Amino acid sequence: MKNIRKLAPSLLAADFANLETDIRMAESAGVDLHHFDVMDGQFVPNISIGIPVLKAVKRVASIPIDVHLMIETPGLIIEAFIDAGADYLTVHVEAEPNLHRVVQHIRSKGVKAGVALNPHTSLSSIEEVMPDLDLILLMSVNPGFGGQSFISNTLDKLKRLKNILIHRGLTHIEVEVDGGVKLDNISDVADAGADILVAGSAIYKSGNPQNTIREMKGLLNII
Ligand code: DX5
Ligand code: ZN
Repeated sequence: MKNIRKLAPSLLAADFANLETDIRMAESAGVDLHHFDVMDGQFVPNISIGIPVLKAVKRVASIPIDVHLMIETPGLIIEAFIDAGADYLTVHVEAEPNLHRVVQHIRSKGVKAGVALNPHTSLSSIEEVMPDLDLILLMSVNPGFGGQSFISNTLDKLKRLKNILIHRGLTHIEVEVDGGVKLDNISDVADAGADILVAGSAIYKSGNPQNTIREMKGLLNII
């Protein structure tokens, strides 16, 4: 079974007044993706960054951008995020009534389609759409804010998801874990089966983000 792990720092924790500097710093330390968190003040109680900032990030990034939409009815606006340069585009199962249509739309544009699940959301909620996905994102905090504590039940959920993917012959689907991932738990999350590990505050709010990235890569065996 393929298991190439990727590290995806969340730009939510970066310095918004110096995004280009932080993007280049993360890339030179060898990260795989930039995680880009979009919040609408409806689906989650916070507002973050959106389409114009994604376009700006795309201009300076030289690795793929992993866009995580924490917005209501994302199908109404996904075209703009595709045009702005998303390489992965993930919507929440709780936020989209026409999930299958949205996933098909994203894929038809050559963009990787992801579905995210909140901590309380059952894996069964994506049972029918699973074969159409490129990525499944398990939230390990309640979405809306960086810097929260990892919800430990995610590890069991992650293992159950990986077993389902094996049994259904869907191991090409990447599984991403997002929220509260830090140096002291990243190995556990990887061992439980995560392919893509998002870390925001643990990287960008650390004293030396490049060292933190290198340490995390070491723990993930992706040096
Ligand atoms: C939470 C976001 C996460 C967040 C992760 O709503 O989806 O991507 O930025 O930040 P940390 O790693 O600080 O929990
Ligand atoms: Zn996220």
